[in-house]
Amino acid sequence: SALILLTILTAYLFGSISSAVLICRLFGLPDPRTHGSNNPGATNVYRMGGKLPALLTLAFDVLKGMLPVWSAYYLGIEPFFLGMIAVAACLGHIFPLYFHFRGGKAVATALGAMFPVAWQMALLLIVTWLLVFRISRVSSLAALVTVSLAPFYAYWIKPQYTVPVIMISLLILWRHQANILRLSSGQEQAFRKPTKNSD
Ligand code: G3P
Repeated sequence: SALILLTILTAYLFGSISSAVLICRLFGLPDPRTHGSNNPGATNVYRMGGKLPALLTLAFDVLKGMLPVWSAYYLGIEPFFLGMIAVAACLGHIFPLYFHFRGGKAVATALGAMFPVAWQMALLLIVTWLLVFRISRVSSLAALVTVSLAPFYAYWIKPQYTVPVIMISLLILWRHQANILRLSSGQEQAFRKPTKNSD
């Protein structure tokens, strides 16, 4: 229906707002798309500017997934389309309309999209991410392990969302190609305090 198409489009447009780029501008930090890992996400904003801008980026990127799915849920839209709305928000983050289609990896946005419909799963994903991060101190590795487990978690906790979760996991894995290469060659940087010349 028209309502479903409208919510999918809105999710994409909302996801297209590149919080990392805007927050870095606001804080007078370098452009995260051309510094550090060249990724507009909370991890790279942390490299550039530390905790506050990174947490704000994380919060806004989570909201980009959360708000569209939440609204659609209250509009009574059925699970399959809620899943597609989540995919649309992630696609907006990855291919942002207002930022030359050069976006991020959608880890935070995907997490946000889980909360309204599967908060137990969102919590499990957070615990997984934190556990791997605690051991490895590598943000990308934590994301890779978490999204690889996500389809199994979904099948176990919320089977009706398994297909969209697989789609989102594949998108996120694909966006981590450079990280996977760096990880396998031992070049991926562990999380560290921001430095002045982070590029
Ligand atoms: O969420 C993105 C994270 O998994 C990796 O970020 O900047 O280290 O490529 P980055």
